[in-house]
Amino acid sequence: MSFEYHNLRSGTAAVSSDDQFAQAVLEGLSREPKRLPSWLIFDDRGSRIFTEITQLAGYHPAQCEFEIFQNHKQAVTDLLAKHAFRVIELGAGDGKKTQILLEHFIQGRLAFDYVPIDISEGAVKNLVAFLESRFSQSTMSVTGLAADYFDGLRAIKEQSNLRNFVLFLGSTIGNMELPAAELFVRKLRESLNDGDYLMIGFDLMKHPKTLYSAYNDSTGVFERFNLHLLDVLNRKLGANFVKDHYVQQGHYNPGTHAVESYIYSTREHVVFIEVLGKDFFFGAWEPMQTEHSYKYTQSEIELLAEKSGYRIVKHLFDTHNHFVDSIWEVKK
Ligand code: AVI
Repeated sequence: MSFEYHNLRSGTAAVSSDDQFAQAVLEGLSREPKRLPSWLIFDDRGSRIFTEITQLAGYHPAQCEFEIFQNHKQAVTDLLAKHAFRVIELGAGDGKKTQILLEHFIQGRLAFDYVPIDISEGAVKNLVAFLESRFSQSTMSVTGLAADYFDGLRAIKEQSNLRNFVLFLGSTIGNMELPAAELFVRKLRESLNDGDYLMIGFDLMKHPKTLYSAYNDSTGVFERFNLHLLDVLNRKLGANFVKDHYVQQGHYNPGTHAVESYIYSTREHVVFIEVLGKDFFFGAWEPMQTEHSYKYTQSEIELLAEKSGYRIVKHLFDTHNHFVDSIWEVKK
């Protein structure tokens, strides 16, 4: 069995992703109120801090998804074992939840390929090395790709005898606005074949107090995660943000149905961003939104699947119905 790692984020791809990054920052800081997309936080260190978040007992999206995988791994195996298949994971991170499924497939002697894709090179490299150390004598082959999702998907060899099982876990879809989520699943469908499966993790709407405590921990790791964005901007764009001048808080907003994280500048000041060649003014206590985490209802999920060209195969819930991993089949 082979274990490989490829970095698709070098050369022209790296230049275009740097441009995309700078463009997103320029747009976000020019908005009123300022608002930056959360994917900007995920460099190697951001990805490591997020792994710490997923280990917090109070961060239910991760805990629920672990429970779902434990309780429903056989149902997933039964679905996939009917055909030769390949598992593709978008935004694999440390791959910990997915390993519950992978181990179960291996124990069932199913031969398959696992292709974790992540924009963090460190995350993919470490994941491939870990899987090789653990599963080198197994029925699984691994090809890790450090890439943007769609560049990664394009690089995967077309094999018409295989059913693709694409994972998009952890409620990352909630970090997109609804129209963007719809565009995303439609675009995914274009990259897949009739009969392929997509499993998406959705965090469900629930008591706002539960949401508040899930996104505001007492150890300060959420604050560290959000403020890390300023380190990324300083490093990648030559900005001069001073982290100590900012604090963070998450709030559920009933108007947008999302938990929104803000960092607040505690004083009036000007930040210069070298790569953009521009100054940005921050007022005292001016908020800048750094995260948007939409909370879905079941009917919104079903509507999203149906209008984007998928058939819903199964909803896998945790025991509190706080979260669902929804399995869809591509219909063409
Ligand atoms: C990455 N994403 C799915 C997380 C979420 O819950 O929206 C980001 C996060 N922010 C704070 N905690 C987790």
